[in-house]
Amino acid sequence: MRPHYHFTPPRDWMNDPNGLVFYRGQWHLFYQWQPAEASGKWWGHAVSGDLVNWRHLPAALCEDEHGAIWSGSVVVDERDSSGFFNGGEGLVAIFTHQKAEYQAQSLAFSSDGLAWTKFEGNPVLRSENPNFRDPKVFWHEQTQRWTMVLATGDCLSFFTSPNLREWTPASTFGTDTDAPGDVWECPDLFPLAIDGDANRKKWVLLASRLGLDNFEDYEDGERGFGVCATYYFVGDFDGSTFISESDPLPLGGPDDYASVSWSNAPGGRRILIGWMNHWGYAELIPTPGYQGALTLPREVALRTLPEGVRLVQNPLRALETLRDAASSSGPLFLQSDEIVPVNGGSEHCEVLCEMEPEAGGASGLLVRAGDEEATIIGYDTEAQCLFLDRSQAGDSDFSDHFARRYEVPLRLQRGLLRLRVLIDSTSVEVFANGGQARFCALIFPAPGNCGIEIFSEDAGCRVRSLTIYQLKAARFDNPS
Ligand code: FRU
Repeated sequence: MRPHYHFTPPRDWMNDPNGLVFYRGQWHLFYQWQPAEASGKWWGHAVSGDLVNWRHLPAALCEDEHGAIWSGSVVVDERDSSGFFNGGEGLVAIFTHQKAEYQAQSLAFSSDGLAWTKFEGNPVLRSENPNFRDPKVFWHEQTQRWTMVLATGDCLSFFTSPNLREWTPASTFGTDTDAPGDVWECPDLFPLAIDGDANRKKWVLLASRLGLDNFEDYEDGERGFGVCATYYFVGDFDGSTFISESDPLPLGGPDDYASVSWSNAPGGRRILIGWMNHWGYAELIPTPGYQGALTLPREVALRTLPEGVRLVQNPLRALETLRDAASSSGPLFLQSDEIVPVNGGSEHCEVLCEMEPEAGGASGLLVRAGDEEATIIGYDTEAQCLFLDRSQAGDSDFSDHFARRYEVPLRLQRGLLRLRVLIDSTSVEVFANGGQARFCALIFPAPGNCGIEIFSEDAGCRVRSLTIYQLKAARFDNPS
């Protein structure tokens, strides 16, 4: 039942991706790992040449006298500003040391990305604030200094440094929509070109919102993906202060938390990956042998849409190397309230579909369908939203918060809905209209339930084309 092409730990518990960095031809992935023998979190480690196939490596950082190793980032220190590399270059990890009494930021360094040494002067940044964690650090070209964005309770805080060891507070960023008791976690900040124009850039601030004290709101469905989701803001950053031009916008739940980006990706690419889970039920999901997986990596860009400048997200080209046999259907027309099964569904497949839903109803796809269960992905032309309904998707007994329906606003493009749906053993990821809307959802259907059906409700729908690719398993090698 392990996912075939989503990253999972070799065994036991994982949560956030950490320390994402491209270095010397390899994509490094560190992650919050708590193997059975640990009393707190460590940094697990894996590397990849293509972000699809992975090699697990021994844990990079283990808990010590300062506490457990919580989330953080890695930078390439090209000019040895930290003084750790005798004038050469190397990698510096900036992470949270966590104990019941405090959270503080610490450093570790490595000249090859494989063997890590903790700095003897740890921690380098402390506070009385009980929520003071998840440093994301990057080099800010204009001001020629390191910038850190840190989750500090109900706001995000910025710090600057010449050498990664000494940090000076610069500003804080909060929003007036914050509900009491909610905290931010795992921020990230990066510039992106608008519509591919390198002369027009905006900064994207990512952060995950956690408010399990307010979980009833989530039950009522009043707060979108609930109070455990990654959001983003589009705005400006001058090296000290971030000014947002948008409300918090959802990145695509319900199961995408702590999404952050790779540093130093070649070609200025910005690639995100998140923890495919939700703190509301992460400890309860039925996945024997391991607990937690990551979302697919997605490449992001900024596009001008009628509603404003928005992030679009799409799966990486490299993922297409997993495509195997294909089968196609269409064009075809569905009358109102019709369900048409199509051939080619399986436990690990990719569906590409172009459809024109008629006004006044909803149409879309049922995936992982069996006699009694299915995950519904559809477009509601009245509400102008894309929805994913997993209320009858399979096993949900483990939590009252799981069997739900989710919506995100989406406009059709001249009447057209383009869906790309990636199905794996325990998940479905949906990218709509070139990545303008996205869902990432865990599901636990019976293994034999692999049907794919097209449906229309209260109005008809024209299906221009539908292609299903079987997907091969990605390689996950263990340390030799
Ligand atoms: C987010 C988070 C982080 C923290 C880590 C601990 O999921 O709560 O804020 O550093 O997980 O594992």
